[in-house]
Amino acid sequence: MSRIAIITGANQGLGFGFVQNINEQFTEEDFIYLAVRRPEAGKEAIQNLKNIKAKISVLYLDMSNESTIEEAKKEIAEKHKKVDIIISNAAARISPTVANKDQVENFIRTNNTGTYYMIKHFLPLIKENGSFVVVASAFGSLIHLKTCLHKEFDYESKTMEEINHVMNKYVEQVKAEKDKEFGWPEWINIPSKVGQVALVKRAHKENPNTNIFSVCPGLVDTDASRPFFNNMNEAQTPYEAASHIVDLLNNNTANYAGKLIQFGKELPWN
Ligand SMILES: NC(=O)c1ccc[n+]([C@@H]2O[C@H](COP(=O)([O-])OP(=O)(O)OC[C@H]3O[C@@H](n4cnc5c(N)ncnc54)[C@H](OP(=O)(O)O)[C@@H]3O)[C@@H](O)[C@H]2O)c1
Repeated sequence: MSRIAIITGANQGLGFGFVQNINEQFTEEDFIYLAVRRPEAGKEAIQNLKNIKAKISVLYLDMSNESTIEEAKKEIAEKHKKVDIIISNAAARISPTVANKDQVENFIRTNNTGTYYMIKHFLPLIKENGSFVVVASAFGSLIHLKTCLHKEFDYESKTMEEINHVMNKYVEQVKAEKDKEFGWPEWINIPSKVGQVALVKRAHKENPNTNIFSVCPGLVDTDASRPFFNNMNEAQTPYEAASHIVDLLNNNTANYAGKLIQFGKELPWN
């Protein structure tokens, strides 16, 4: 039976590393979709792929626009009914030289609300032993937030929609430059990653038989990470970082469900 994999933000960076690794493991009967907001960039990425084995094509979606995600889901459901692998990897970038208030909205809408839309629409398509992976980060743990904020991410009591509402509230606080008063950290990536991991934990609680988990790829040398680090000597290439995660998918991923995994090990939530 054909295997189906969908990777968001697949035209560059870590996302393209996933495409390269999955293509190596797939055969000509299998399908890989590069889910991208710029179809021409997706096509160019496919042209840069060496030794194409699977059937590879572009799927248009924009993480900040729910209707495009719904359309993409419909297209995949009509063609394949169910999917083996979804990697929700796409993310808007932030710059260390731009004020938080000027970049928080696009960042959270894309990375958090977008992840919420991906889970909402695509999780029901995952096959019984399939995997839905959200690329988060080791910063997606409550240990990086002040205790007074932990209740905001109580996935035992909050629905995904409510967690999304917390992120919307956070956006308004940053835009009004009131976030410090509420105890939020300076780096907006931390609340964003905690929010993503909380969504995954809630999705797992509501769908205990579907293997959804989050991962930290470690430091990866991409255009997104480079402005934050002077020395990238220790960073992995996107291909290397993706290979650790694709290897996980060859195991029984029920063992990872609901967890945040880095290099095969669970990271603590609190
Ligand atoms: N790099 C690291 O060291 C590192 C470490 C920990 C976690 N991560 C996580 O790994 C993931 C990938 O990071 P990366 O470094 O590979 O980033 P990247 O090089 O900036 O790639 C991000 C991808 O997301 C796409 N994207 C952005 N906005 C989108 C939207 N609205 N709709 C659809 N696609 C959109 C981009 O498309 P365009 O080409 O059209 O912009 C691009 O393909 C992110 O979730 C990041 O937080 C990275």
